[in-house]
Amino acid sequence: MLNPTEQTRLLQMESSFSSEFGSAAKIAVRAPGRVNLIGEHTDYNDGFVMPAAIERSVLMLAAPSNTGRIQVHALNYNQSSTFSIEGVQPTGDSRERWSNYLRAMVWVLQGEGISVPGLNMVVQGDVPLGSGLSSSAAMLVAAGLLLSEAAQSPLSPVQLALLAQKAEREFVGVNVGIMDQYISALGKQAHALLIDTRSLEYEAISLPVSGVSLIIADTSKRRGLVDSEYNTRRSECERAVEILSQHLPQIKALRDVSVEQFLSLQQHLPEPVRSRAKHVITENQRTLDMAEALKLGDMQRCGKLMNESHQSLQIDYAVSCRELDAMTEAARSLQGVYGSRMTGAGFGGCTVSLVADEALENFQRELPRIYQQHTGLEAALLVSKAAPGAERIL
Ligand code: GLA
Repeated sequence: MLNPTEQTRLLQMESSFSSEFGSAAKIAVRAPGRVNLIGEHTDYNDGFVMPAAIERSVLMLAAPSNTGRIQVHALNYNQSSTFSIEGVQPTGDSRERWSNYLRAMVWVLQGEGISVPGLNMVVQGDVPLGSGLSSSAAMLVAAGLLLSEAAQSPLSPVQLALLAQKAEREFVGVNVGIMDQYISALGKQAHALLIDTRSLEYEAISLPVSGVSLIIADTSKRRGLVDSEYNTRRSECERAVEILSQHLPQIKALRDVSVEQFLSLQQHLPEPVRSRAKHVITENQRTLDMAEALKLGDMQRCGKLMNESHQSLQIDYAVSCRELDAMTEAARSLQGVYGSRMTGAGFGGCTVSLVADEALENFQRELPRIYQQHTGLEAALLVSKAAPGAERIL
């Protein structure tokens, strides 16, 4: 189901497709970006996350070409790229970097025995890049859906997410968890998903339809450092499991350690491993608590959990930055704001705040003003309802 902006974008893309290739597109797909409400850096610890898909997406159109090649035009860059399907590698062309996502996905599908046909394609997206709203997951999930449909080898949404995650790991070289690809593939309108990243099952949690809004605010600080720091955090978590398993032999991941167990064993962990483990273990609990609070409509509690999550990411996990801290502080200083936290991997990107409807206008006016006073940077607000996950639209 397309929102009005996507409908307009699709029409423009259809006309670009005909002028580029002289025929009409036969397949079209959309895949959304996401915002994570809570459960940060828990997914590679087999833990819980609670993202929602957003009304920003990647759209892709295609028609089979019988050429053995993929010829793709990206409207955002007004650039084209052509590559042969045979012998494709996950790290492909360096000039049109955006096209590497497609190459990576072709390569991953081929690894599954799916033979992708030659295609003409047009791609367009409106998920802001480098803002922590998962533009790359949207690109990979859209590519996976389109290519598997073109190959007449439909994938289940969970398979699609797992293959997009594989492509991201191979291509980007960051050992990411499953959250971003999963929510892009399985998102549900008006709901966040409480995802168990171990069993890969979810519970849809309905978001309040009135009374409060979730507002995304972009710090306009692009994520730096994130790749190497991400992999470092991951190894620190693994180290914590190694040490804790000497006392709790049954544990496989930090997901298996309760807050009480952590408190009684924390003295065995050196810093910074102890703080990292503390974040993950308490964040898992906060994510489960947030699901309960949302079901009860307890916004005060939701906001408090979001604030605690931010503090834990800032102090114990050390993945926040000056801009994210300034933005969340500015949000919390405003009336009618229940809570505010960074969202995504960190080191820049966006915050998400829970704001009472009657305070929304004031929030939208004041947040950018205060943020600019403190940082000299411009904030961009993004208002979105929870959107459906990836789907074929033609
Ligand atoms: C990135 C990764 C996700 C997740 C978040 C942090 O978005 O792609 O798998 O680990 O960071 O919660």
